[in-house]
Amino acid sequence: MSSRPEPWWRSAVIYQVYVRSFADANGDGVGDLAGIRSRLDYLKELGVDAIWLNPFYPSPQADAGYDVADYRDVDARFGSLDDFDGLLRDCHRLGLRVIIDLVPNHTSSEHPWFRAALAAAPRTGERARYIFRDGRGPGGANAPNNWQSTFGGPAWTPVNGADGSPGQWYLHLFAPEQPDLDWTNPEVRTEFESILRFWLDRGVDGFRIDVAHGLAKDPAMPDLGRGFATSGPAKVGHPYWDQDEVHEVYRAWRRISDGYPGDRTFVAEAWVHAPEQLARYVRPDELHTAFNFGFLLAPWSARALRQAIDQSLGALGSVGAPATWVLSNHDVMRHVSRYGGGDVGVRRARAAALLMLALPGGAYVYQGEELGLPEVIDLPDEVRQDPAFFRTKGKHRGRDGCRVPLPWSGEAPPFGFGPPASKPWLPQPPDWSSLTVEHESIDKGSMLALYRRALQLRRELPGLGDGMLEWIEAPPEVLAFRRESGFVCVVNVGETPADPPAEVAGCEMVLTSAALTGKRLPAATSAWYYGRSKPSATNR
Ligand code: NOJ
Repeated sequence: MSSRPEPWWRSAVIYQVYVRSFADANGDGVGDLAGIRSRLDYLKELGVDAIWLNPFYPSPQADAGYDVADYRDVDARFGSLDDFDGLLRDCHRLGLRVIIDLVPNHTSSEHPWFRAALAAAPRTGERARYIFRDGRGPGGANAPNNWQSTFGGPAWTPVNGADGSPGQWYLHLFAPEQPDLDWTNPEVRTEFESILRFWLDRGVDGFRIDVAHGLAKDPAMPDLGRGFATSGPAKVGHPYWDQDEVHEVYRAWRRISDGYPGDRTFVAEAWVHAPEQLARYVRPDELHTAFNFGFLLAPWSARALRQAIDQSLGALGSVGAPATWVLSNHDVMRHVSRYGGGDVGVRRARAAALLMLALPGGAYVYQGEELGLPEVIDLPDEVRQDPAFFRTKGKHRGRDGCRVPLPWSGEAPPFGFGPPASKPWLPQPPDWSSLTVEHESIDKGSMLALYRRALQLRRELPGLGDGMLEWIEAPPEVLAFRRESGFVCVVNVGETPADPPAEVAGCEMVLTSAALTGKRLPAATSAWYYGRSKPSATNR
């Protein structure tokens, strides 16, 4: 029997490129595709397998591009379709795969479909692509139900009829500029299948599915009951998150991607509560992988991390899907800060990186985490752009603090993000000069050096990536596990030094997140060991 090589996405390390904040080639303060093209060598050298690009489509940018006005083009501020094709070509030449972001739950209010819907009368085909409903109460003056937008405020906005009289309401689970599509409408399904083909034909390697758990709504549109939250991981029975009907959509998409050569892949962004709910998205005939937010949300505690790991591996393994591991993205506080900030946060983040990259499955690296960037918490209100900040009147500071443009080089902003006189769309802290790629490239003890080394070892040592994990008995605050190849990872999550398990006595230590004291692991330290003869790996 001939065995097919394991598909790349089962073990891939995928680097998230937040396009507007990665590299700005034309100096307008906003990152662009040409900027990414100019920095591909950096990603190659870092040692990742693929990149995921956040949305770059034409958009009024009411939600940083997650409000798409045209799914088959590139926004002029990011470049052109030609630039995209060139970027894809360059990536493939370097052996980097490319995943793009698909936003199927909602369009922009500037999308031609929504404009046509507003111009049309209630109960017409134009309106039927979205979720328009009559209001409640006298004259329909109240929203159809009590659903709230994830960004704050009601999830319904009223529109006037053509004659200016009060009309229907439309649903937007996010900003009013992001009207939800009606996925019971076959026209919507056909359109997205065609969009998938448009990009698959161009050669993309996969899609990250935005709000994958949101496409289907309970047709009865009941009020949101007590015990169910507007945002965050959704529990079973929620009227608009994680409804069963989403799965049929993904089965159809899988049939399409399977028709293309080269292991094209989908990753679901599905914020669901239980790992078993998540596993349903990655059954063999649905999406390939899903972000593992349980791991991301786990606090720095051995118990919590081990539980997140066990539950993910158990649930995903039961349907034959690999796990993915993620610590940060463009929607959450950067993990250096989440883990406590300052030296403690950095130390824990270093240990967490070695934990994540040793676990079975794939991993995501959010741009800047390899530099140890912290959340920028003191952005002035006037530069903020996240709709969550505005819609909650500043109660939620929003997500701008994790989206600050990358520092590449030099001693002062824009730190090589754009040409010298350019002004990044969000201001970079002046003290980021020690966190630039340039600075960290020459510092052997930097976060960047750790990521480079860990990714190199992950490629060189057999048995990392997809596969099994076996826990080794260890003290309560220590996580220790073995991979089938003789590789052992030990993480001291606790606040006091700990001995590694006896198990590693005959092993060679190949990488640590901080210097050990003899053989002891200080607080918040990870170490990788290898028990058999291995290729040219050395201590850091
Ligand atoms: C999830 C995306 O990651 C986030 O940035 C966006 O605001 C929402 N989906 C709405 O599209």
